[in-house]
Amino acid sequence: MRLVVVSNRVTIPDRHEKATAGGLAVALREALEKHGGLWFGWSGVVGSTRQLRETQRGNVTYAVTDLSEAERESYYLGFSNRALWPIMHYRLGLTEFQRSDYMGYLGVNRRFARELARMIQPDDVIWIHDYHLIPLAAELRRRGITNRIGYFHHIPWPSADTLMALPFSTTLVRTLAAYDLVGMQTQVDARNLIDCLVNLCGARTDGRRVRLGMRETAVQPFPIGIDVEAFRRLAAASVRQAATPLRATRESLGERKLVIGVDRLDYSKGIVQRLEAFGQFLRSHPEERGRVGLLQIAPPSRSDVPEYAELDRMSDEVAGRLNAQLGEFDWTPIRVVKKAYSRTALAGFYRRAQVGLVTPMRDGMNLVAKEYVAAQNPADPGVLVLSRFAGAAQQLGDALIVNPYDIHEVAEAIRTALAMPKSERIRRFEALYHVIETSGIHWWTQRYLEALTGAPAQAEVVEPPSKVDSKVEPPVRRTGRKPRPAASDRGEAKSRAITVGQKRGAPPGETAHVSFAR
Ligand code: F6P
Repeated sequence: MRLVVVSNRVTIPDRHEKATAGGLAVALREALEKHGGLWFGWSGVVGSTRQLRETQRGNVTYAVTDLSEAERESYYLGFSNRALWPIMHYRLGLTEFQRSDYMGYLGVNRRFARELARMIQPDDVIWIHDYHLIPLAAELRRRGITNRIGYFHHIPWPSADTLMALPFSTTLVRTLAAYDLVGMQTQVDARNLIDCLVNLCGARTDGRRVRLGMRETAVQPFPIGIDVEAFRRLAAASVRQAATPLRATRESLGERKLVIGVDRLDYSKGIVQRLEAFGQFLRSHPEERGRVGLLQIAPPSRSDVPEYAELDRMSDEVAGRLNAQLGEFDWTPIRVVKKAYSRTALAGFYRRAQVGLVTPMRDGMNLVAKEYVAAQNPADPGVLVLSRFAGAAQQLGDALIVNPYDIHEVAEAIRTALAMPKSERIRRFEALYHVIETSGIHWWTQRYLEALTGAPAQAEVVEPPSKVDSKVEPPVRRTGRKPRPAASDRGEAKSRAITVGQKRGAPPGETAHVSFAR
């Protein structure tokens, strides 16, 4: 078997890559090296030539293509990041839909499928990543690709009620049936997706597998992890290194305690709310003023999307206001640093910080939470404060779990974390460390690939959406009744004797036993 990975962005590794690449990139690369493989996707460059460029590194081929300016606008900035991203993060008010963006999104997926199909070999297993590429498998199937194809969704999947607000969502969700395996971050996301497939598309399910037409797709949670041991080593080494930002922080902070936040500058991360919560903490506990500071590292992201530019402005404004109101001539309560640091530097910051403040408004998993835990000194660990709306909260119940919409609750959690006795910090750390260690990134890739390669290969074509035409959007079904299947499905269903569908009259999502007998 050869592994083919497809992701929106592909970074071709250079000599220094091991030190800078994140756990996911390294783990996928390792899986590719193990099986021999191909990594396909966008080069990250916007250019006039869209020719495929291939680079060989050992037994892995990196095949990348540039996007045209129009493709970047519609596929990446438009449909992926102004429509799918906000709606998947439950932010209906920020969701901007343009038909031309959707057309561009489908167009890039079609082009990627055309290029990729030419490179696929009979025993390849294809693993597609992220919301930019949802319809890719349907496009590949249309080109006759019958290989096993898996998809992993790195961000949350909302309820059917939320997703329905996005035009053409039913058509888009339906294309997921072209995959043999769909991986989600959490059980909640998996359940939401199954509900969407059942209630919007008329699929049947046994709770783990979904049947739509004659295709069967497994939908399962695979909570993504980090390379715990590698990150722990980085953090331990950072303490000994002389010329790191950590050393400089130590000098500038002295004995003061440190609360840390590290996030892309993205509204889903709750950065502004977090700054407000830290301000509230200092107002509620004036005795802490001058004794602790918040360092928020926030490398800019997607700055061509207006909502991100607005967040950039707002975070400066809020940090400036709070510093002016609460600071002293010799103490700045909040530092917001809008640049990226190396993983070594981040590991050092995490280790130095008494509190890791990870409070997204909604997040697929959030690996910063796991990295913060991995970086701690086991003999004197810091405390993780974690949003209940991060996927990581499903696993890391020994963190201080908070509602990021309640700045008073977050403020009190900061206080509790700073005052927590060492014995309790150690107990919580050990429990958290055990979880991240037993569900690390290598476990994740292995489990996913085992599930994908074990899945039965199926040849049936799922029609990808070919044009923006409201007639292709089937009516939404909100009852337990099955919609009338397409003629071809009716014929297949009869001859293959598929027996039970969703329970008649049952609330959406509730299903009777389903037999998938062929
Ligand atoms: O978490 C989803 C994700 O698309 C990641 O795969 C990616 O690394 C991150 O968001 C940043 O996104 P972008 O490629 O838009 O900078």
